[in-house]
Amino acid sequence: MDYFAYKGGELYVEGVPASEIAMKAGTPTFVYSAGAFTGSLEALRAAFGKAPVQICYSVKAASNLALLRKVAELGLGADIVSGGELYRALKAGIPGGRIVFSGVGKTAREMAEALDAGILMFNLESEGEMELLARVAADKGAVAPVSFRVNPDVDPQTHPYIATGLKESKFGIPHGEAPAVFARAMKLPSLRVIGLDCHVGSQLTSAAPFRDAVGVLSGLVRALREAGAGITHLDVGGGLGIRYRDESPPSPAEYAEAILRASGGIGDLTLVLEPGRSAAGNSCVMITRVLYLKKTPAKSFVIVDAAMNDLLRPSLYGAWHEIRPVRLPPEGAPEREVSVVGPVCESGDFLARDRALPAAAAGDLLAVFGAGAYGFSMSSNYNSRPRAAEILVEGGAFRLARRRETYEDLVRGEAEALCSL
Ligand code: LLP
Repeated sequence: MDYFAYKGGELYVEGVPASEIAMKAGTPTFVYSAGAFTGSLEALRAAFGKAPVQICYSVKAASNLALLRKVAELGLGADIVSGGELYRALKAGIPGGRIVFSGVGKTAREMAEALDAGILMFNLESEGEMELLARVAADKGAVAPVSFRVNPDVDPQTHPYIATGLKESKFGIPHGEAPAVFARAMKLPSLRVIGLDCHVGSQLTSAAPFRDAVGVLSGLVRALREAGAGITHLDVGGGLGIRYRDESPPSPAEYAEAILRASGGIGDLTLVLEPGRSAAGNSCVMITRVLYLKKTPAKSFVIVDAAMNDLLRPSLYGAWHEIRPVRLPPEGAPEREVSVVGPVCESGDFLARDRALPAAAAGDLLAVFGAGAYGFSMSSNYNSRPRAAEILVEGGAFRLARRRETYEDLVRGEAEALCSL
């Protein structure tokens, strides 16, 4: 089903006119389709058939509680990278036993909180983390379930900022060093090694890097088992790409086949998947309103009320997001090349550059597609701009999932007068 569809030249989200949402909620606003979000997670689960799979939605992609509650309702888990994400996941009703904790810099406090929550496993990324977790767990008289994130040195062929499985990256334990680190971990009584993990990058549009990385991990699982470790989980991370423009990422079935084939022969393992973008990315449009048209001798600008603080991806990664009018012009109306820019005081503030778009007028609404993953979750208050509203559309109704911030929100936490700690 197409959850974002034009009918009679007008954009609908699950049957609700986007213009009606914009009227009520104002702009800019992130509009999520609950059906699109849950549908993509269910499709992923279905692709793995009867294979034992634990899907842990990657909270960082889009962390609104309304979405996390959907994850909980589906019986899925969460991949978290901070105490804040742990707080959100638990608050949304995701049980600790379905949470995996990733990231290179977990603090003692975050480790203690996650132990208290009884998480499924800590994905450790260095010996330093291993030693700290062993101490934190020992202090509590607890045994921490751990998995090691291995850096398989695989090229994910994606933007360099989001490639994480190359040997130059800060992530994971180099695969050559992994056996020695495991051997040390197995001697620490407050740790229980139960898994191996990797995450080679994000927005992968081919199955090959997944296959290669899982191949490296599978070899290590065998070696670890021979050394006596009770490995029960193989976490293959996230990274499945989506179509923003003309990419053709693997389908859930192709992705599942690559992973199942590469991990085949090591039986009785639960596969952990950490999808973020593939669940949230195309489940949301950001609606923005045209403020001004500005023509200089060099360029034509469409100045809108959303900016890089709302959707950072174009500025940070040069990412391409489709932009279309919420109300389409008549068939055959001419297009012209414009740059769609926001009010922020930087030339790097753009949503699209030199893009052919139908003529827009001040007051028109535009939809920025594919805004669900790393959209709102990477938004900021730069230029003291209150963050946008988030709306969840479900079954023909739309509800506020996060209210638009106010000016008071901007200064909350800044003492009226400076005070000492
Ligand atoms: N697991 C780990 C350990 C990760 O670091 C990530 C993403 C994921 C899972 C989820 O990956 P996904 O399925 O979403 O590709 N802000 C960037 C993307 C950063 C990805 C960071 N890690 C962007 O807007 O493209």
